[in-house]
Amino acid sequence: MPTTERIKLLHDVAVTRRTDFGHGYFELYLDAPELAREMSAGQFFNIRVRSELFPLLRRPFSSFDLLKDARGKPVGVSILGHTVGQGTRMLAGMGEGDRIHLNGPLGHPFELPENPDTRILMVGGGIGLAPFLHSIRQWAPEKRDLMLLAGGRSQRDLGFMKRFANSGANILIASEDGSVGVKGRVTVLLEAELKALKGKPAMVFTCGPWAMMDAVAQICLQAGVPSYASLESIMACGYGVCNGCVAKVKEDNEHGFRYAKTCVEGTVMDCSRLIW
Ligand SMILES: Cc1cc2nc3c(=O)[nH]c(=O)nc-3n(C[C@H](O)[C@H](O)[C@H](O)COP(=O)(O)OP(=O)(O)OC[C@H]3O[C@@H](n4cnc5c(N)ncnc54)[C@H](O)[C@@H]3O)c2cc1C
Ligand code: FES
Repeated sequence: MPTTERIKLLHDVAVTRRTDFGHGYFELYLDAPELAREMSAGQFFNIRVRSELFPLLRRPFSSFDLLKDARGKPVGVSILGHTVGQGTRMLAGMGEGDRIHLNGPLGHPFELPENPDTRILMVGGGIGLAPFLHSIRQWAPEKRDLMLLAGGRSQRDLGFMKRFANSGANILIASEDGSVGVKGRVTVLLEAELKALKGKPAMVFTCGPWAMMDAVAQICLQAGVPSYASLESIMACGYGVCNGCVAKVKEDNEHGFRYAKTCVEGTVMDCSRLIW
């Protein structure tokens, strides 16, 4: 895996395409061959939405897809966005020919277990599914046993799931209103899959709302299955200087915890170390 010391961190890249999935979800394809070669699943980049002062702070995004040309050469990455405020609204308005300035790759990637027979269960909720297409693209060629459990409030929040078709993982979907997949929370799928393991080794990677990841962590803890969460903390600098992104982690000190900067210690963190 490349290290951030050796690689270029600042990129000025062109948008080559935009897709709309409706209900505020969109994808931007970026012409960024270097990033496509250097980014590992679970890492993120920090986007300066405009060259003007506003919005001042960069916005963190996962790489959604790893884009390759017809001969399999990496040509770029894409981002999956959900419009929540000014920054994401500006990104949603971009299209072919627009340019984006970004810092990355940042943070630690997901790390696969050595045992190739381990079942990798990815559990994502809504926009938290973003890191898992890149993950599947990266891990499927290694013939890993990959399963994606995708959850959302309704079909409206999961329109982008069609991008996961034929990606190389088994996919199960749950929606709270039952409009797509199994009715209920994604944790219902996780509990069933953990029961079905029957002794097969497994590891869980999760990303999504804090309450969902907390529930995933508790279920995995009870089942004795290791789990890692990609935390989508609110961030400013993205590289360890502002203290804006901290999470409480267990520590053997007088307080029993310390604050960890998730942008540099994570964003992928061992769930058993986090204080939820
Ligand atoms: C490592 C990481 C990876 C991420 N990957 C993606 C991704 O792939 N796609 C995507 O759409 N979003 C992703 N996010 C969240 C994204 O960065 C925020 O939604 C974005 O910064 C909001 O910017 P804004 O200017 O649109 O909203 P703002 O005007 O800054 O905020 C609008 C609302 O969104 C809330 N908000 C702001 N930041 C976050 C956050 N990090 N998590 C949850 N709520 C937030 C604010 O509290 C506020 O209520 C990621 C966040 C992190 C930390
Ligand atoms: S975002 Fe600044 S320290 Fe993590």
